[in-house]
This record gives sequence, structure tokens and C-alpha cells, in this order.
Amino acid sequence: MYKVILLCSLVIFASSMNESETLLQTLQNSEFGKTIIQTIQVQLEGNSSVDKIIELLTQMKDRINGEQDVERQKSRDHTQFCDDKYDEILFVIDSSEYQLAKDQSTLPLFIQEQKNKQRQLLDKQEIEDRNNQRIAELTDQRDLTRQQYESRRDELTNMIGALQEGKRIISKLSTKKWDPLAGTYSFLEFSQFMFNELEAHQKQLKKQSNGIGLLYELLLETSQDPGIQANQQGVAKIQEIIDELIESIFDLLKKELLEDNAREQDYQNQKERIVIQNRRLQATIATFKARVLIINQTILELNNDIRFNTEKSTLLRKQKDDWERTCVDYHNGYVEATKIRTQQSDILTEVIQVFNRNYNDFPSLIQNITV
Ligand SMILES: *[C@@H]1O[C@H](CO)[C@@H](O)[C@H](O)[C@H]1NC(C)=O
Ligand SMILES: *[C@@H]1O[C@H](CO)[C@@H](O)[C@H](O)[C@H]1NC(C)=O
Ligand SMILES: *[C@@H]1O[C@H](CO)[C@@H](O)[C@H](O)[C@H]1NC(C)=O
Repeated sequence: MYKVILLCSLVIFASSMNESETLLQTLQNSEFGKTIIQTIQVQLEGNSSVDKIIELLTQMKDRINGEQDVERQKSRDHTQFCDDKYDEILFVIDSSEYQLAKDQSTLPLFIQEQKNKQRQLLDKQEIEDRNNQRIAELTDQRDLTRQQYESRRDELTNMIGALQEGKRIISKLSTKKWDPLAGTYSFLEFSQFMFNELEAHQKQLKKQSNGIGLLYELLLETSQDPGIQANQQGVAKIQEIIDELIESIFDLLKKELLEDNAREQDYQNQKERIVIQNRRLQATIATFKARVLIINQTILELNNDIRFNTEKSTLLRKQKDDWERTCVDYHNGYVEATKIRTQQSDILTEVIQVFNRNYNDFPSLIQNITV
């Protein structure tokens, strides 16, 4: 109720005031208004005509409106500049983030390939190691069989020497009679020598060749037969047996030499096969190594690229934020200035209107105001 009464009394009070008084009261409420009052007062004191003052006020208004036009255009240009700047930065961010995403999806593929190739490389190297080990084993085995052959050969050669020595003794025996007083060779002595020499090889001879074994036994028996001792034909027979025995041992030597040659050939063949396989493996290993080297380099470059583009994108986003702040600040400044200029222009419009309508009494009204 009170509110309604208050509102009514305000309306009545306002309508009791004329527009000149109302305007002057409004003007006194702002710094710009006060400046206008003072300007008009200075002009009136200087005896300027009302027309001149209205012209001056119109010029002020035009200047403010002109300034607003210029600022409006500047603001439009600035907005365009900001939009272009965002586009430019966003374009660079986009391309750098596109590259980043591409790198990040490519990297795992290369890491996987690096793992695969390295495992394959290791597998091949293991096979090569095993092959080299196999060659070493074959060589050891071959060294052993060669040694066995060589000692066997020496043994047989010694045996031949012993038989030939026996034959030499027997040939002396065949030309001389047994004479213990003269100290010449006796058949008994010889038979003991032969017995000792041959017995040492008895077992092996029997084992290796039936023919030699039989000859040996025959010789042994014959040489110990007392009836043969004085019989020159018997001596010749023994010589014949010894020759056959020597020949058999030569045959055996030859056979064993051929067998050893075959073993050597077999060893060389096996070794050669492995060496060829290793040569192929080494070529494959070299290829894998070269590939791993390239992959490692690629991974290094991808990681560098990822780091670079991450930093670049962060930096650019920050740059864009900075620009955005600057642009918003500028725009807010423009909006604020526009508001002030519009208010000032509106006030001037009203003052000019009031001046025109109250051409005669407004000047004196203003002159009486103190601000
Ligand atoms: C407005 O009021 C002032 C003083 O109160 C007076 O001098 C002036 O003549 C008035 N103007 C009109 C148009 O009534
Ligand atoms: C303005 O005019 C009055 C009266 O005609 C006069 O007294 C005064 O000196 C003039 N002022 C100026 C600044 O010319
Ligand atoms: C490749 O990189 C891996 C992992 O960093 C490393 O273990 C390997 O030795 C590298 N290989 C070459 C050939 O540089």
C-alpha cells in the first residue's frame, strides 16, 4: 500500500518538473554530464550564440560517433585477425597431433617386429653355435679314429719288422749247422724268439683275421717241432710261411688304410655340409642384424618425433589460450568503450533536442547551475 502511494507521488513530482529540469538533474549524475554543463556554461559566458553551442554539441556527438565507427571497424578487423590466428594455430596443432597419433600407432608395430627379429636372430645364432659344436665333436671323433688307426698301423709295421728279422735269422740258420760250441744260431733259439714275438700279437691276430691266425699257429707249431730243426726243407717251409704272413699283414695294412681314407672322406663330407649350412645361416643372420639396426633407428626417430610433437602441441595450445585471452580482453574493452560512447552520444542527442525545444529559457537555466 505504501509502495503504491510512494510510486504515485513520484509520478506526480516528476510530471510537475519540466523536461529541462529533468535533463539537468540527469546530467549532474555523471561526469560526462557535468563536463557538458561546464562546456555550455563556458560558451555562454563567452557570449556564444545558442546556435553555436548546438553546433558545438553536434560536433562532439559526431566525433564520438565517428570514433565508434572507427573502433567498430577495428574490432571487426581484430576479430577476423583472431579467427585467422586460431585457424592458423589449430591447423598446425591438427597436423602435429595427426602425426603424433600416426607415430603412436606405428611404434608398437616396430617394437613387435624388433622383438620378433631379435628372437629369430637368436634362434639362428643358436643353430650356428650347435653346428660349430657338432663340427668340434666330429673332429674329436675323427682325431680319435685317426689315432687308433695310426697306432694300429705302427703295430702292424712293427710286426712286419719282427717277422722280417725272424726271416733274416732263419736264413742264416739255413746255411749253418747247429753248433753250440761255435756259438752259431740254433733253431731252438730262433723258435723261442719267434714264439715270444708272435705270442705278443696272438690274440689280436686271431681276432682280426682268421687267415693270419691260422698261419701263426702253424708257424708256432712248426718252429717247435724238433724234427724240423735239422731239416733244411723244413726251414725253407718256415720261410715261406713267414713270407705269407708278412704279405697278409701288408694286405691288412692296405685294407685299414683304405678304411681310414673312407672315414676321413666321410668326416670331410659331414663337416662340409655343416660349413655350407653355417654359411647360409651367417648370411641370414647378417640380414636380420641389418633389419634390426634399421628398426632400432626407426624406433629412435619415432620416439623423438613423438616427444617433439607432444611438446609442440602443448606449446601451441598454450599459445592459442594466450591469444584467446588477448582477443577476449580486446573485445571486452571494445564493448565497454562502445557502451560509454553510446551513452555519451545518447546524452548529447537529448541535450541537443532539449536545447532546440527550449531555445530561450534553457541557457539561463544552465547558467544558474553550479556543478
Ligand atoms: C521550466 O521551469 C523553469 C524553472 O522552473 C522555468 O523557468 C521555465 O520557463 C519552464 N519551462 C517550461 C517550458 O515550462
Ligand atoms: C558579454 O556581453 C555582456 C553584455 O552585453 C558584456 O557585459 C560582457 O562583457 C560580454 N562578455 C564578453 C566576454 O565579451
Ligand atoms: C636394438 O635395440 C635393442 C633394444 O634397445 C638392443 O637390445 C639391441 O642391441 C639393438 N640392436 C642393434 C643392432 O643396435
